[in-house]
Amino acid sequence: MRISVIGCGYLGAVHAACMAKLGHEVVGIELDESKAKALASAEAPFFEPGLDDLLQDVQQTARLTFTSDIARASGSHVHFICVGTPQKKGENGADLTYVHEAVRALIPYLSPGDVLVGKSTVPVGTAAGLARLVADHVPGVHVVWNPEFLREGHAIQDTLQPDRFVYGVADGSEDNVAVTILDKVYETPLADGTVRLVVDLPTAELVKTAANSFLATKISFINAMAELCDAAGADVTQLADAIGLDERIGRKFLQAGIGFGGGCLPKDIRAFMARAGELGADQALTFLREVDAINMRRRTRVVELTRELCVDGLLGKRITVLGAAFKPDSDDVRDSPSLSIAAQLQLQGAVVTVTDPKALANASRRFPELQYEPELDQALRNADAVLLLTEWSEYRDLDPYVVKDLVTEPRILDGRNVLDSAKWRTAGWQYRGLGRP
Ligand code: UGA
Repeated sequence: MRISVIGCGYLGAVHAACMAKLGHEVVGIELDESKAKALASAEAPFFEPGLDDLLQDVQQTARLTFTSDIARASGSHVHFICVGTPQKKGENGADLTYVHEAVRALIPYLSPGDVLVGKSTVPVGTAAGLARLVADHVPGVHVVWNPEFLREGHAIQDTLQPDRFVYGVADGSEDNVAVTILDKVYETPLADGTVRLVVDLPTAELVKTAANSFLATKISFINAMAELCDAAGADVTQLADAIGLDERIGRKFLQAGIGFGGGCLPKDIRAFMARAGELGADQALTFLREVDAINMRRRTRVVELTRELCVDGLLGKRITVLGAAFKPDSDDVRDSPSLSIAAQLQLQGAVVTVTDPKALANASRRFPELQYEPELDQALRNADAVLLLTEWSEYRDLDPYVVKDLVTEPRILDGRNVLDSAKWRTAGWQYRGLGRP
């Protein structure tokens, strides 16, 4: 099939490459010319494991091109909208400017019978509004909402072998012609057994925000338990193991630590609350305010624990922060809890050095006042305290005996509860986890 993908950030670039991998002829449209050029030379403008190789692989087949010219969408039968929906400045709601601009720009190149597929995360009701807008200009275009559930760091696998496909169509019916067309797009993963659900437009939009809200709630639940464990002298990692064995609960997303960040979970729960308010259903989501508050408290808690760990205050203390990205296997620093903690510590007088295998360029653009050191050994040298805040495998695998020779004071705060506390203590370290005695 001929497919256009509008917006080639994390979501769109991966989606375009994966659609070409599935055998379709794809044009990726990205208004930022430098990003479009990089993608056209098979270089992802961000770090995602396997993406450069995949881009090279599919570009050799000539099935994938990138451009900044939206007119190249003409002739495609299916158009995926993959632009960002960031949080509005100073408000909780989602900023839909890019979605509206993308659809307006695309309208002149749409033909009757085309399928416009929204993948961006949008407030419920957006798709119906876009369907009306499109129908006013080009009759017979099918507007579908097909939310994306990919995780950064696993984006290719999540796109090619997702847990499920959700198709939101106007009448919510299996017989909708757009369902047949999307089935062709996803023919290979469907043949491999991926479940596909057909729902109406508002349900599809809500599935996405509900899923992210549930994940955020799960993380904040375990972080609330970590607060209690701290108060009671219990161990939240053992508690999570024990409750996680109940299949109804499950152990995934019960990793207590410094909390969630990134470009999705924090802004999605806020946009969801804002939209519920507009719909007069704000009471239904007031619990998400608590989820957000628990999450933000983690950051303050780590600053306080670091102060305790340093014994006589933070002033002048050399603190090494391991990890800048909001999670491992990503160079994304949007709302990164680790950077927000690093900046707080620096503001309170500590001398903070941040290291990360991939995210330093992005981090230094966002927080130019912090010191960055790409070499791990160098970053650890002479530290008065080490904070593991993003659990890259190279930090999980650190040898406490080797690191001890580099630092001034063997004090470590394990912000993700991933280190073997007994091993570090035996090696002579003062170890602090979060919600662990
Ligand atoms: C999230 C969802 O997991 C995806 O399903 C969704 O498609 C995506 O948002 C999106 O809306 O586009 P992502 O932001 O890539 O994906 O990252 P997650 O793996 O969900 O992690 C989010 C944050 O939670 C990270 O900061 C991570 O460190 C933290 N986390 C995760 C915890 O603190 N504890 C856990 O147990 C799990």
